Order: sequence, then C-alpha cells, then structure tokens
Amino acid sequence: MTMEDIKEKARILREKINFHNHRYYVLDSPEISDGEYDRLMRELQDIEAKHPDLISPDSPTQKVGAPPLESFGTLEHSMPMLSLQNAMNVEELREFDARLKRSLETNFDIEYVAEPKMDGLAVELIYEGGLFKVGSTRGDGIRGENITLNLKTIKSIPLRLKDSPFDELPERISVRGEVFLPLEAFSMLNKKREDEGEPLFANPRNAAAGSLRQLDSSITAKRPLDIYSYGVGEVKGKNFITQWEILQTFKDYGLKVNPLIKKCENIDVAIEYFEEMSRRRNELPYEIDGVVFKVNNIRLQGELGEIARSPRWAIACKFPPAQEHTVVNEIIASVGRTGVLTPVAILEPVKVGGVVVSKATLHNQDEVDRKDVREGDTVIIQRAGDVIPEVVSVILSRRKAGSKPYILPDTCPDCAGKVVKEDAFHRCLNSSCPTRLKESIRHFAGKNGMNIDGLGFKHIEQMVDKCLIKDPADLYHLTIEDILTLDRFAEKSAQNIIDSINKSRNTTLARLIYSLGIRNVGESTAKILAAEFGSMERLKKTTINELMEVDEVGPETAAAITGFFSARENLELIEKLWEGEVYCSAPEKRAGGLFEGKLFVLTGTLESFNRNEIKTLIEREGGKVSSSVSKKTTYLLAGEGPGSKYEKALKFGVDILSEAELKKMLSLD
Ligand code: IVH
Repeated sequence: MTMEDIKEKARILREKINFHNHRYYVLDSPEISDGEYDRLMRELQDIEAKHPDLISPDSPTQKVGAPPLESFGTLEHSMPMLSLQNAMNVEELREFDARLKRSLETNFDIEYVAEPKMDGLAVELIYEGGLFKVGSTRGDGIRGENITLNLKTIKSIPLRLKDSPFDELPERISVRGEVFLPLEAFSMLNKKREDEGEPLFANPRNAAAGSLRQLDSSITAKRPLDIYSYGVGEVKGKNFITQWEILQTFKDYGLKVNPLIKKCENIDVAIEYFEEMSRRRNELPYEIDGVVFKVNNIRLQGELGEIARSPRWAIACKFPPAQEHTVVNEIIASVGRTGVLTPVAILEPVKVGGVVVSKATLHNQDEVDRKDVREGDTVIIQRAGDVIPEVVSVILSRRKAGSKPYILPDTCPDCAGKVVKEDAFHRCLNSSCPTRLKESIRHFAGKNGMNIDGLGFKHIEQMVDKCLIKDPADLYHLTIEDILTLDRFAEKSAQNIIDSINKSRNTTLARLIYSLGIRNVGESTAKILAAEFGSMERLKKTTINELMEVDEVGPETAAAITGFFSARENLELIEKLWEGEVYCSAPEKRAGGLFEGKLFVLTGTLESFNRNEIKTLIEREGGKVSSSVSKKTTYLLAGEGPGSKYEKALKFGVDILSEAELKKMLSLD
C-alpha cells in the first residue's frame, strides 16, 4: 500500500466510525454489532499507531482521553452565557406570557419551544468550519474553564459536524447544551464507589460536575456522560429564523437534541406540556427540574432583549421540589472503612416527600464550608435523586446567636488517631481504628468478599470491642468458646458461626483480593487481577508498570495496589490468613467459559433479571452482548414483547433463546 492508500483508508475508517458513533450515541439506533465496531476502531488505531501524523483532531480515536492537565485554562465566551428567569408555577408562566404580549404590544398568540430543563451543567462547544475546536463550562457566564479534552471524550459530542449537500456548515458556531449523567449510570457509578470504599456522589448533577471537571480526561472518558444541545451563542456564516430551526439544524449536524422538544403554538399548549412533563418526570432516564420555554421567533427574541443577565424571551418553569425545613441538632463525623470522615447532620425528624428523614449527609468539609451549616441551624433539606437526603441551604434568619462554623476534627472521633486531608476528604490514618476496623471486617466477611454467612455487624462490633479480633484474619482463629462470650449466643448458634467461618476458608482468589478492601479495587477489578496474576504471591510482587498494562487498571488503582502490598501490616495480614488455613481455589479463567466467542442480543422484557445482570452473567461465561442483530449474532435472548430484532433474527437464522432456556444453560433454574 502506498502512503496515499493508507491515508485514504484512515479517512474511510474515520468516516465509518463517526457514522456508527452517531447511530449509536446520538440516534440510539446502531446498525452494526459491538464486535464489528471494535474491529473498525482497532484497524484505525493500528494505522494511527504506525503513522501518528495521520491522527486528525476529529479522529474517533481521540475520544479516549488525553494525559492529565496541571490545571484548566479559562476561556471567554464570545457571547455571555445567560441564566434563566424562573416561574414557580403555572400562574407565573401565564404572567410571563402576558408580560411578553404587553411588551410586544400584541394580542396575538406567542409561539414557544418547550423542552425539559436538564439538571446538569451548561457547556459551550465551539465549532469552526465544522470541527470541534474548544469547549468550556459556563463559569460566571462571561468566562468558563477550558474543558475541551474532557468534552472530547463524551460520545454524543461529534468532533466534526455532519455537512449536508444543501447547506454549508457555518464558519463558526457556538453550541450551548447541558451535560448530564443518566440515572442508571449514576447509580452504577455510586455502587462501584461504594464497593471500592470511595465517598459517594450526592446526586447525578454532582457526579456529572465531578466527572467533567477532572484534570485527567481518561477518567472522564470512563463516565458515560451525555449531552443535549439546546441553543446557540455567536454564529458566523448562518442565520437562524426560529429556535425550532436551530434544534432541527443541530440534529442535521449530528448534535444530540432532546427528543421531547415541542413547538407550542400558544401559552395553553405550553402549560399542557408542563403538566405532562410534571407527570412523566419520574419515568425519564435522567433528572430534570422543570421545563424551559423560549419564544420561537428569533426576531421577537431580539425585540424583547434581556434583563439582569437573563433573556426576557425565555423562562424556566420549575417543578415543586421534595424539600422541607428542620433543625440540625448535631453534626457528627462518621468514619468509614477507608477511614474517610463524613460529616453527617443529625436532624429533628421531618417528613420529606412521604419519608421520615432524621439524618442528612454533608458529604465533606468543602460542602460544609460552602453551605456553612452549623449545629442548631434551621436548614432546608431535600431528597436528591429521590434517595439520599441532603442539606440544601441554611435559613440564616433563624440562626441562633453564638453558633460556630463546623470543622471536622483533626483527630478521629473514634480512635483519636491523626486525621489528614486528602483532596476533598478527611481520612483517619490509623488502620487499627476500631470503627475502620469494624467496617473493614464487615467488608471482608461480606457477601461479595469471604461471604461468612450469619456474621452480622452487631457480632463484629462485639468481637472488636471485646478484643477477640484485631484484624480480619483473627476470624480464622476464633474458637467456639470465644463466640460464646458474645451476647445471646448458645452452643448451637455459636457452632453455626464457626461452621460459616470454616466454609468461607475455601474461597476464590478474586473474592480474597476483593475482601482485602484495597482502595479502588472493587469486585470487577478484583476478578481481573485474579485472572491476570493467578496468585496472591504474584500480585504481591507486581509493579505499577505491570499493573498499568492490565485493562481497567489506571494509575490511581495501580498505586493503591502497590501501596497496599508495600505496607508491612498488610503482608502480615496475608500471612496470617494462610496460617488461618484460608485457601484459594484455582483462579477464575477468562477463557473457556460456556459462551466463549458467542454473541448475544437481547430483546423484550425479562422476568427474573435486569439487563445489566444478564449482561454480567453472559460476560462471565466469556460471551458478548451487542445491541443489534447481525449475521454474526449467535443467540437472540427474547423476553416478553420482543421488538423488531426478533424478525431480524429470524431472517438471519439466528438461534432464539427464551429466558428459561438461558437459565437452564447457566444452571440457574
Ligand atoms: S436555555 C439563555 N435550555 O438552565 C438561556 N437551559 O438557568 C440559556 N438548562 O445555565 C439556557 N436545560 O444550565 C436552557 N433545555 C434547556 C436547559 C437549560 C438546562 C440550564 C442551563 C442554564 C440554566 C439557566
């Protein structure tokens, strides 16, 4: 192949991959299997590795993150990013419409474009000649942070706009939109963080903000952020007549637009839309906090102008929040397994959205400072994401005289050990701190760890308090007499615990690794490490470089692992486990699973599994799950009410499995 051929090949590959990215991430309607997609991507990566000069800024390979930055630069918005005036209810929305009519001196209906108000972060994307150049956060509206590298990793942000034969791409266009984290991705991310002993994100918005403001864009790349584009800033080389036209043009460009947008010919239709969204709010796969209405006609927008940093021609009609106010009786520092001290507000119990709330997390010191929450304060609380209660703000007018700002203690409330600040978090460094110890034994013995059946937290607490155990390995040296010293234990129940402990001695390497509670090492990483290294001895001696070669292990995790195995007490713990006759059976093999080389597609609703569970089960057996049926599909797993994939599978002669058949194959029936 000549250099020209290679160049052409790379160009075609890029075009193909960009086309499929758009089908998958923007239109939610893929045309090829994941496997085929991976092959195209790998082919392009190979070419680019051999010929780095062929890497173009819009190459889809540029979506995986870049080396970490020292800090973000700032970018000035060529037109300010304004905020929106709010309407708190439908009456205020009507007043808004009446106000506009007075201002425009008209009795005619005003047409609006409505769309959900996404609870995420506003960003600006600058495209020049169709190419994504830079992007930034809203910041103070005038200037924001340059987060170009992070935005590039978001799959639904095209690096190049699609052009059409009828209309040239504008010379320069500022696209504004909202980046958000879908609810499912949010709960998966938090579950992973919980597994790994990392502090949880309070809500999807915070998680999106934390992901978007990472200096290391390869971390952002792992978070399934999404975007809906909703407006423009400065545009050169194109004139839009209506807001509706802007949104339709965005779609032609390959930008993602909320499918729920609606043109409302008058305020009554707008109100109907608001009411419909209030009803549908909880069914949506992302959080919204209201509906945004914009005057459709851009000439009218210009006539209306702006007031106090918000356009007169747009309004956000907010949903009533699940909020209440109550008093903070006390603020305590709660110690977790990894030693992180979380400030928790102990509240005068109050009902919020139908649930009694008596505690609310304050996340970390920075959050406490930002909100300035103090003991004795009256605060507004809300249930964010409908689960974790959080303090929204303090009602300062009710603050009692003499209150003092809350500061997390510099010694651990439990063991009086030294507390240090790492990033946003305060951590107790004493690894034998009783609370840390209890929490780490809970983790060790837990269901996904050594799985000691029947050993509850109450038992663990007593064992530690009575000095029967000083580390997890001591569990394997307990006698029935020891157990009998605990409250409410008789011969039989004590024997049951001993039996469970005995049973847990025979485990897998992956479980053992997980149970050690190494920071960043959750269940899936532990499995990968077990498969990769095969034994604890081998893992103990591994190096950061070696670890970084492993899929899914980034620099932080690699450092956490080598750090763990360089501490003498941890090596002693492992020795003690062996002495306690803990035994790992051969590691789970990656190859040789039941579904090795098999490609699955799912359709319809399953009875006993959700989609993630079933995906894990299939992957554990070496199979793959793809979203569309092709000739390469091995099985179509069809649940209740299968969709068009079913016909396609019949056409390709793909084997169709029922849920029951799959369960049988997996011996789950
Ligand atoms: S339009 C000049 N549309 O709300 C109007 N904003 O308070 C610009 N937001 O900073 C905003 N969803 O972060 C618009 N569909 C939507 C939106 C939306 C969320 C946010 C955006 C903006 C804030 C305005």
